[in-house]
Amino acid sequence: MNLTAFRDNLSRFHVKDKVKAQVSRTTDALIDPASDGPFDMLVIDVDGYVDRDLEKYFDYLEHGSLIIIDDYRDSVNSRGVTNLERFSRLGVDKAGEKIDRLSSYERGRLLGKHLLTYRLIERMVKLGLLEPLKNVRGTLFCRKPLGSAAFEAVWTASISRAVEESVVDDFMHLLRGGRTDFPLSMRYWRPHAARIARRFMNRIGRAE
Ligand SMILES: C[S@@+](CC[C@H](N)C(=O)[O-])C[C@H]1O[C@@H](n2cnc3c(N)ncnc32)[C@H](O)[C@@H]1O
Repeated sequence: MNLTAFRDNLSRFHVKDKVKAQVSRTTDALIDPASDGPFDMLVIDVDGYVDRDLEKYFDYLEHGSLIIIDDYRDSVNSRGVTNLERFSRLGVDKAGEKIDRLSSYERGRLLGKHLLTYRLIERMVKLGLLEPLKNVRGTLFCRKPLGSAAFEAVWTASISRAVEESVVDDFMHLLRGGRTDFPLSMRYWRPHAARIARRFMNRIGRAE
C-alpha cells in the first residue's frame, strides 16, 4: 500500500488524527497497550498465516470484536496450481524429496494461501477462538467469542504444524492424481494460471 495515498485518504475523510499508521511486518508492529488497545476490530489480509497474526493481536481485542480475514477459500489458488505443475514435472518421488526440504512456511503455502487460511480458521473455530458470522466471496467476517480464552492457552505450535502437514498430504495426493473435496478453482485466477490449471487437471483426469 502507498503510504502517501493512505495518509491523503485519511485527511480526505477527516480521520487523520484518529489513525496511527505503522509500516512493518504484521509481527513487528509496536503496540502500546496503555494507549493503543484494546481494539474492537482486526483486519487480516496478508499471506495466509492467520494464526501468526492472531497470536499477536488476539489478546488485545475486546471480546465480541469483529475479525475480518481475507483470502479464505476451500480451494487451490493460482500459486497452488503453479506449484502443482512445477512439482509434477519432477515426478512424485523427487517432488516428495524436494518438499521435505522446504521450510515449514513454504510447505503450508504449497496449495496457496487461501486453502491454508481456510484450514487454520477451521481449527480455530473448533477450538472456540473464532465465531464465524458471514463469508462474503472469500472474505470471512468473524467475532472473537465472548467467553474465549487467551490465544496462547488454546493454540499451540503443534496445531500449526498439523495444518501445514495436511496441506502437504493433499499436495502429494493431487500429484499422484488423486481427487479431493476441494476444487482447483479457476474463477479467480489470472489467465495464464487458468491455462496451467487446465493442463494439470486434464492430466489428472478432472478437466472442467
Ligand atoms: C493481498 S495484499 C494486501 C493488500 C492491502 N490489504 C490493500 O488493500 O492494499 C498482501 C500484502 O501483504 C504483504 N505481506 C505478506 N506477508 C506480510 C506480513 N507478514 N506482514 C506484512 N505484510 C505482509 C504482501 O507483500 C502484500 O503486499
